[in-house]
Parts: sequence; structure tokens; C-alpha cells
Amino acid sequence: MNALDVLKAKYLDGIAQAAEEAALEELRLAALGKKGEISLKMRELGQMSPEERQTTGAALNVLKNEIDAALRAKKEALADAALDARLRNEWLDVTLPGRPRRAGTIHPVSQVMDEVTAIFADMGFAVAEGPQIESDWYNFDALNIAPEHPARQEHDTFFMARDAADPRPPHVLRTHTSPVQIRAMQKTGAPIRVIAPGRVYRMDMDQTHTPMFHQVEALALGKDISMANLKWVLEEFCKTFFEVPSVELRFRASHFPFTEPSAEVDIRCSWEGGQLKIGEGNSWMEILGSGMVHPKVLEAGGIDPAEWQGFAFGMGIDRLAMLKYGIPDLRAFFESDLRWLRHYGFAALDLPTVFGGLSK
Ligand code: DAH
Repeated sequence: MNALDVLKAKYLDGIAQAAEEAALEELRLAALGKKGEISLKMRELGQMSPEERQTTGAALNVLKNEIDAALRAKKEALADAALDARLRNEWLDVTLPGRPRRAGTIHPVSQVMDEVTAIFADMGFAVAEGPQIESDWYNFDALNIAPEHPARQEHDTFFMARDAADPRPPHVLRTHTSPVQIRAMQKTGAPIRVIAPGRVYRMDMDQTHTPMFHQVEALALGKDISMANLKWVLEEFCKTFFEVPSVELRFRASHFPFTEPSAEVDIRCSWEGGQLKIGEGNSWMEILGSGMVHPKVLEAGGIDPAEWQGFAFGMGIDRLAMLKYGIPDLRAFFESDLRWLRHYGFAALDLPTVFGGLSK
């Protein structure tokens, strides 16, 4: 074996044996690097005779190309092997069952609003809307609540902050859904039959109150709509909503600035063994305020009180929901609230991260 054959065997063997790219690089430098064995041999060509130079030069070139090709081929093979190994490691068993995700649910308040809306829709009531940030004219004045009227204080109103020089009329977070009556009258005139479900706000926060809650307002105006119509509508609503064959309602004389006469309405119920039953028993539960729309309110809505009349009422939706879904003690709002939400499968409450251990 001549010296070049020895070199060739040495490098091709080394390359065949190399297990990683770094080893290949070392071999490349040792053979073809500036001070590599092949490169040094190339430099010796200058001292050779022309004939010798020609044969050795050609042989060196062949060897150089062979080593180079072997290096490239091995490098590619190593990369392929690495990819194969990675693919084997990252193999996914797509036949494994998936991890289930909790399904979302409709919030109970939204669900009750939908139920209420559907029941009144069957009785010909459309849905009306108004803004939650309302001018104090719509929230109070138009509803016959004068600036000095105690109801303004009773409502624990959130007023929007304003600079002294701000020319805009004062605005509040609406304290009830009643301003939607005015907006609906202005928009469609009479006759009209609408309900207005939505959020309302009062500066009130304790075990039985939250600063945001939900009401549904109703307004029905016609030529001869009376308290008798109000009574029928409410009875129909309660029977359908509470899913009972009959209900008994009690109308108690009351006062609201926007109705005359006014009545608060109670529903007959029983509390037995902490269990609330609607429609029977010896207890009464207040569910809403109502009355015949005050002439001044009709006028504020642009409707002639000499020609039109009708009723309005306002109910608390959160309370309705709690009554329907069997929360025995309204005073234990917080505890009850959780049970009520769970009753609907309100999933977020059962996630261990929410409120720490509170949901247990
Ligand atoms: N707006 C009243 C409140 O929030 C509820 C109410 C009472 C609404 C009588 C009415 C009504 O439409 O006629 O307390």
C-alpha cells in the first residue's frame, strides 16, 4: 500500500465510524484543513519533479474528492438518523382518548331573562332596550321623580363624575329599567306592549344586595287597558314561569311616582321544611311593583294621556330566578347564590382555582 492508500483507508474508516457531526468535522480538519494531511501533501507537490507532480497531484485530487464526498454522505446520514430518532420520540398515539373539556353553560340570569322574554312574547310583548348609562332626565324627571323627591336618595344612585364646567346633562347608572318606558314611548308611540329586561345599579352592597342586579320592566298602553289586564297578564306570567296550574296574587296599595294608582304584588307561597312552594300555603312573597302609568309619565313619553292609558310593572329578575329554582332562604344570598348556580351546572364555580376552597 502506498502512502496515499494508507491515508485513504484511515480517513474513510474514520468517517464510517464517526457517530456524530463533531467527529466528522474533526476528520475534515485533520485531512482537508489548512494544516490537514492532504493539504500538507498538496504543498509538497512544489518540490517534486514535473512527472511525479502530475501523477501525485492527480491522485491527491481524487483522494481529496473521495474524502469530501464521504464526509458529506456521512453528514447527511447522521442528520437522517437524528431526524428518525426525533420522530420516534415525538410519536403521538392518536388513538388515546382526548382530555375532556368542560362545556360552557348559559348563565342562570341570562337563562331566566330568556324564559321571561319568551313568556311575554307569547302575550304580544316586544323587547325594548335602553342604555345602562342614562341621563338623569330619563331615569328620574321623566318618571315624575322631581329633583327634591326622596326617591332619588332612596335609589342610592351612582352619578357619573363630571367637571364643574361640563355642559352635558348629568348622567347616572340607571337605577331601574323604568326609563326604558320613556324611550319606548318616544320611539313607537301608542298603542304599545313592551318588556325591557336588563341590568340596573344601586350603591348597595351587603349579604342580600349587590350593586348590579337585573330587572324586567313592562309597559302596555291602549285605549282602555286597565288594572284588570295587569292582573291577568301577571297571573299568566306567574303560572307559566313557575310551572304551576294556578297562582294567587295579592295587590297591595303602594306608591310609586310613575304610577297612579300603584300596587305592590305578592304571590301566595308556602315554606315547609325550608322548601318554598309557589301557589299554595299561607305566606306571601313580594315579587314586583306596578300600577297605571301616571299621566305625567305618558306626557314625558310624548303620549296624550287624554287618549291613552295603561299599566307598567317592574320585577327583580335575580329574585325570580332564586324563587323558581328553589333557594329556600333569600337572606343567605351568598350561600344560596352558589347553590343556585350549581343547580344550573355553572361550571366555573367548581373549578378548584376559583375562590380557593369556597366552591366546596
Ligand atoms: N322601578 C321600580 C323600582 O325599581 C319598580 C317599578 C314599580 C316599576 C312600579 C314599574 C312600576 O314599572 O309601575 O323599584
